[in-house]
Amino acid sequence: MKNTDMIAWFVDGQEGYTKDYWSTDNVAPIEDTISNLTDDRPHRYDAATKKMTFVTRRPLDTGDVAQDFLVPLNEELAMIYGHAEGSAAWRIHDEYGVWTLRLSEDGSVVEGALDLTELRRVDEYEQHGWWMWSAWYVVGLLLLVTKRYAKKTWSLSHYLHAILGYFTLLVTIVWASKVIEWRFDTPHYILGTITLFVTIVGALSGSYTAATMKIYNGDKDWAEKERIERIAKIHRMAGYFMLFIGNLTIMSGCFHYFGDVLKGDKRKILGAVSMISFCFLVILFETIYRLRNKFSLGHLKTPKVTDGGKVKTFTPAEVDT
Ligand code: HEM
Ligand code: HEM
Repeated sequence: MKNTDMIAWFVDGQEGYTKDYWSTDNVAPIEDTISNLTDDRPHRYDAATKKMTFVTRRPLDTGDVAQDFLVPLNEELAMIYGHAEGSAAWRIHDEYGVWTLRLSEDGSVVEGALDLTELRRVDEYEQHGWWMWSAWYVVGLLLLVTKRYAKKTWSLSHYLHAILGYFTLLVTIVWASKVIEWRFDTPHYILGTITLFVTIVGALSGSYTAATMKIYNGDKDWAEKERIERIAKIHRMAGYFMLFIGNLTIMSGCFHYFGDVLKGDKRKILGAVSMISFCFLVILFETIYRLRNKFSLGHLKTPKVTDGGKVKTFTPAEVDT
């Protein structure tokens, strides 16, 4: 947790102890130089339920501005709890939750009115989501357009496709490595990790395709030409697979963020909207492309034989008119 005052209760067998922490980042926190906590002793261990009860006190204003949050009265306070089982050492929590409270001079504590969904939001995850969505939805569509539909400007589209491909690769590596912990217990973690590796291989196959095209100058023998076409086909298929799995990963990322992190937020549906609209746009582009190809040949008319039924040779200019 960033900039958070923490109290940690540890249970080790039938022993219990309390520690004062100040956390500055999403890593194991630093123990306060001066602990301002006092426990009502002894901790009560209930052998029947295997639970230990702690009662811990601290002054609202500890005077330690460097490592304690000085608790104000009559203000809404954001609170968070988390717990982990199986080890008395620091590690990421199994479960966590947020709540809010307000304290007053007479010692009463009432539930606060802060918006819990707002408290659960995580900046870093949202940035991860927006970057990935831009790279795979927006740039993903451009990758398709530059190679499949914008063929009139072949050279420009070719270089644009390569630059956009490297951009998507870079964004995927940078924003995946910011959150990756090699977990596989949620569909998004599995898909995210697969997309990361598929993108690296896919972008390499694109680079290889572009390089072989450059080396090939049209005068090679058929076997060589076929080899280059095979490489291009592999990247083409990898490209479509990447676009599909990348957008599936976006959907699972939205489900995970809105469903699990924001605990059942209705905006979870945005994941499905993104996936369906992406597929719809691809189908739309393809339909327009095919219809245009079909009807753009309509102006070519088969010339009629007019030379008294005899065989006549047409010049290219005559055919074009
Ligand atoms: C193609 C797009 C995406 C890729 C490749 C991707 C990749 C990843 C990877 C590799 C992880 C870490 C998995 C692990 O620890 O093993 C991850 C975590 C996560 N991703 Fe994505 N992601 C994508 C899109 C999204 C989107 C659109 C969202 C929506 C907000 C999102 C939200 C999250 C969240 C909340 C986590 C968990 C972070 C944590 O618990 O530390 N991702 N993603
Ligand atoms: C995330 C990265 C990438 C994706 C998703 C992607 C996607 C695609 C797709 C879908 C096609 C086929 C379009 C069609 O139907 O004709 C394609 C073709 C192509 N891509 Fe990529 N690409 C990526 C990266 C790259 C890179 C980095 C390069 C080169 C440096 C590259 C070079 C090419 C070339 C030369 C073709 C044409 C192959 C042919 O002749 O059929 N791509 N790409």
